[in-house]
Amino acid sequence: MSSPDTAWIDTDRLSGVGLRADLDGAVLTVTLDRPQRRNSQTPGQWYALGDLGASLPDEVRVVVVRGEGATFSAGIDTRLLGPDGVPGEDSVHDLMRGDDQHVLGTIDAYQRGFTWLGDPRFVSVAQVRGHAIGAGFQLALACDLRVVADDTLFCMKEPALGLVPDLAGTKPLVELVGYSRALEICATARFVGAEEARHLGLATAVVPGDDLEATTADLVEALLSSDAGAVRETKALLQSAGSLGLEDQRLRERQAQLRRFRALTARA
Ligand code: ACO
Repeated sequence: MSSPDTAWIDTDRLSGVGLRADLDGAVLTVTLDRPQRRNSQTPGQWYALGDLGASLPDEVRVVVVRGEGATFSAGIDTRLLGPDGVPGEDSVHDLMRGDDQHVLGTIDAYQRGFTWLGDPRFVSVAQVRGHAIGAGFQLALACDLRVVADDTLFCMKEPALGLVPDLAGTKPLVELVGYSRALEICATARFVGAEEARHLGLATAVVPGDDLEATTADLVEALLSSDAGAVRETKALLQSAGSLGLEDQRLRERQAQLRRFRALTARA
């Protein structure tokens, strides 16, 4: 039974698809919880994550995404790519029975399981150890920050399987590492280790595996030490900085600062 302040967390639905969500003050920790399948992912999880993101109250200031066990995520449950699929889940073969609009709409819903992590209302942190393959890499890319254990191996495996990365991972990858390196990483489907990830700017920090939780906790504490409203406005500003021209971005800065001045003076 959920307490009133966590009633928005549908624990039964999440556990039914191999997920957990634990709220501790202003921090929501989302755990991929299928270690026996190396936290491979399913559409049921993506729907549940999208709905969880849509129901998040303003009190949540940081979301940590992690995987149970030694592997962050081995990507899509590869059985979904074969004819037998996974009971209760959409397989690619099921999907292909629909028309193109149905397929496009379904992938859009899958992507929402990732894009909610960019919501400026909170800062999202991927805590990564072991493999982060395909959808696992894209889930880590959906987060604002990545704290990475030294055994981490990222891999955009999709092109090796005849697919493209379609879970909203291409944009953050290019923004983080640049077009050429992103293409090389995707087109070769090679592994990117933790040290290279730090060098490329993919990893916010790289630490020994034993220190991963403590380092994430320190980062979360530091994020919470700043003013909540200022962090939200700043995240939104930084998100638009890459695509807007200087004039439009300056306008956004002025508008955001006006809101901050109003909020601070109202508080004084
Ligand atoms: N989907 C479904 N089951 C998986 C997946 C997966 N993606 N990955 C691992 N498993 C299962 C294995 O079948 C195995 O099950 P079993 O115990 O019933 O035999 C179990 O998890 C353990 O897997 P191992 O391979 O033994 O684990 P190990 O730690 O040695 O290797 C690794 C981990 C490297 C992640 C390996 O499992 C792997 O390469 N998995 C496939 C990765 C992949 O191709 N993902 C798809 C990417 S594309 C996309 O995401 C869109």
